[in-house]
Amino acid sequence: MSGLGFGGEVAELYARFRRGYPTGVVDVVAGHFGFTRGDVVVDLGCGSGQLALPISERVGTLIGVDPEPDMLAQARRAAAKRDASNLLWIVGSDRNMPELGRVLGQGTLAAVMIGQALHWMEAESLFGVLVGLVRPAGGVAVITNGAPLWLQESGWSVALREFLQTSFGWRLDATCGTDEASQARYRRELTDAGFEVVEHHIDYEDVLDLDSLVGGLLSAFPVEELPTPERREAFAARVARALAPETRFTEHVHVSMLLGRTTSPSRPAADPRAARQPRRHGSNRRPGSAGFACRE
Ligand SMILES: C[S@@+](CC[C@H](N)C(=O)[O-])C[C@H]1O[C@@H](n2cnc3c(N)ncnc32)[C@H](O)[C@@H]1O
Repeated sequence: MSGLGFGGEVAELYARFRRGYPTGVVDVVAGHFGFTRGDVVVDLGCGSGQLALPISERVGTLIGVDPEPDMLAQARRAAAKRDASNLLWIVGSDRNMPELGRVLGQGTLAAVMIGQALHWMEAESLFGVLVGLVRPAGGVAVITNGAPLWLQESGWSVALREFLQTSFGWRLDATCGTDEASQARYRRELTDAGFEVVEHHIDYEDVLDLDSLVGGLLSAFPVEELPTPERREAFAARVARALAPETRFTEHVHVSMLLGRTTSPSRPAADPRAARQPRRHGSNRRPGSAGFACRE
């Protein structure tokens, strides 16, 4: 386990319940960066492979990078189920991108995908490294996959938030990079690093039953706070009571894509030491108790 709280059973729950991405996302990204079967793409913070697997179908090789070995084990399993053999999984983080660059060489990647994970990284120094790693007309895709279940505008989501806050004493205001201020900052940081940025959105509705809702919720718990398996049923019953009389929950999912593309021949990467500077903003670290930080 990496200590980020995505290990153990959380990784299993994530693989089973966390929403994937609409096909349109893959179409937009593949079209924008002109993916070919000769391309190598990195999915940084790949988790259990929600984005890595569909992207791998459009490129030559997909390298999934994540600090949580249990997430990578889930991703590997999902790839095996699809008989996908062009994926490589590496335990690592945003801070290891300079090393990856030294192994692969500058200008070798068609793109680096970051799906619902940039809020765990130091974006500014990361983009400075990535701009040297990608080929001309390649780039970085920063994708967010809808607001957290407890932070949506519908009545059930408000009730869920109240239930979690009252039951666990957590503050639930972390948006996991989905809010406008974070998006504007990511856009600015991509531009400052030398990328030309365009934005795409896909909006759709999804209807969850109680099992999917509770599964999605548990996949967002820090592993040390998960209700034990014996208490899971009672936990689901408490959620059901808090959201009654609703039993089906409509989500308005807003998927946002910030696509930063290089226009000129790739530049040398920024000094790798820059990627090791302290995080100035956007950190998802939790002070004190484990709590319920941004687990999206
Ligand atoms: C919310 S999940 C997103 C997983 C997947 N990309 C998706 O779209 O569903 C966030 C992932 O980021 C990983 N992560 C956390 N800190 C990271 C870092 N500094 N660099 C790379 N990945 C990180 C976590 O282990 C976790 O698998």
